[in-house]
Amino acid sequence: MADTLTVTDNRTGKTYELPITDGTVRATDLRKIRTGADDFGLTTYDPAFLNTASCRSAITYIDGDQGILEYRGYPIEQLGEQSNFLEVAYLLWFGHLPSQAEYDAWARTITLHTMPHENIKKFMEGFRYDAHPMGVFLSTVGALSTFYPEAKQIGDAELRRIQAIRLIAKVPSIAAYAFRHLKGQPFVYPDNDLSYTGNFLSMLFKMTELKYQPHPVLERALDVLFILHADHEQNCSTSAMRGIGSSQVDPFSALAGAAAALYGPLHGGANEAVLKMLAEIGSVQHVPAFIKKVKAGDGKLMGFGHRVYKSYDPRAKMVKKTADMVFDVTGRNPLTDIALELERIALEDDYFISRKLYPNVDFYSGLIYQAMGFPMEMFTVLFAIPRTAGWISQWEEMLRDPEQKISRPRQVYTGAPRRDYVAIANR
Ligand code: CMC
Repeated sequence: MADTLTVTDNRTGKTYELPITDGTVRATDLRKIRTGADDFGLTTYDPAFLNTASCRSAITYIDGDQGILEYRGYPIEQLGEQSNFLEVAYLLWFGHLPSQAEYDAWARTITLHTMPHENIKKFMEGFRYDAHPMGVFLSTVGALSTFYPEAKQIGDAELRRIQAIRLIAKVPSIAAYAFRHLKGQPFVYPDNDLSYTGNFLSMLFKMTELKYQPHPVLERALDVLFILHADHEQNCSTSAMRGIGSSQVDPFSALAGAAAALYGPLHGGANEAVLKMLAEIGSVQHVPAFIKKVKAGDGKLMGFGHRVYKSYDPRAKMVKKTADMVFDVTGRNPLTDIALELERIALEDDYFISRKLYPNVDFYSGLIYQAMGFPMEMFTVLFAIPRTAGWISQWEEMLRDPEQKISRPRQVYTGAPRRDYVAIANR
């Protein structure tokens, strides 16, 4: 059986044979299908990239029908139970699990880069007192390019590695500063004795005590959530990272764009939207009426549905487990009952079953964050911190891929045909 596709162009009667590789045909192979010498050739039309692979990637594997997620081949369930976020970040970037010596060196290097330049603190103070931390986060990440101008040298592998370390190390500090600014509290400098998430909790919640002691259960829960959010192949923000990075801009500028893409309510902003929705529903009794509204097309059930998963998001299962662990410490988030009832009703309802709509990662994560003391505005920032490891690894892979060029889709022009300019007095 040949791995080819035979296509007959009924406009010309000509037949073409196109190679099939890894279940794909190359869109550029269609260009030879032409009606004549003046014809540009056939193009694919795929708004929102529903059926287009934009790259070859060895980082993350998803089987949306079976609910499988793997980083570099390792199942998310095993990583969530046995690994930690810094090890996962190493795995995403280097492609293999570190030896003990490699891990120690990596963790040490990240720890030594957590302190932002003092001027970053100063300009963050310039944001309005109630500035949304996601807006603060993405603009500050972009501003890092002004502190590290050598980051422009994206052809230098060692410099790329240094920027990756800076980014992974500094995003928790920037996020914590954004949080403290919102709260009107002084910034807390990093504590090198603590773990990645332990230090983050310290920078967020330390008050007058000399040494902040993170609660080990909450520290671990946050670490698990960071693992679950670390990468998710070619989603909207990762495609933004690759697309912007393909212009050869520095990684800080590209990552600011990726974070902006994450901010939207259909992507990483969904966790905030879920909590707003749950608060609006208000009580379990109001759930059936809310579901009826959604089915009538009046709004969406936020935290449900996914472009790729057509079964239960494996991350959502683990987030649900983590919620129990957190609630044992913090007490149960009262909105949990509404979420459970929404899930119960939706999973029995034909509207959701026929469309294969299941809870996604954002459905339960906000409940945990709220129980841990985070305001809703911080939820998407908590997604952006670990996703930084994924974005930067995808960016590195894109730059190393000899097939990649500047990202530049085509369009089907639907505007006016050529016409002559008319002077304003004659219109
Ligand atoms: N509630 C109600 N109906 C929905 C929902 C939902 N959450 N999601 C999809 N549908 C319906 C949609 O209206 C459409 O119905 P019909 O065929 O009658 O027109 C059908 O299901 C297919 O949906 P779609 O909009 O074509 O699906 P998509 O792949 O373009 O969108 C999505 C995927 C995640 C944007 C969408 O499911 C959604 O808006 N969900 C709510 C927002 C959300 O939770 N986003 C987080 C995604 S996971 C984490 C992340 O990416 O950051």
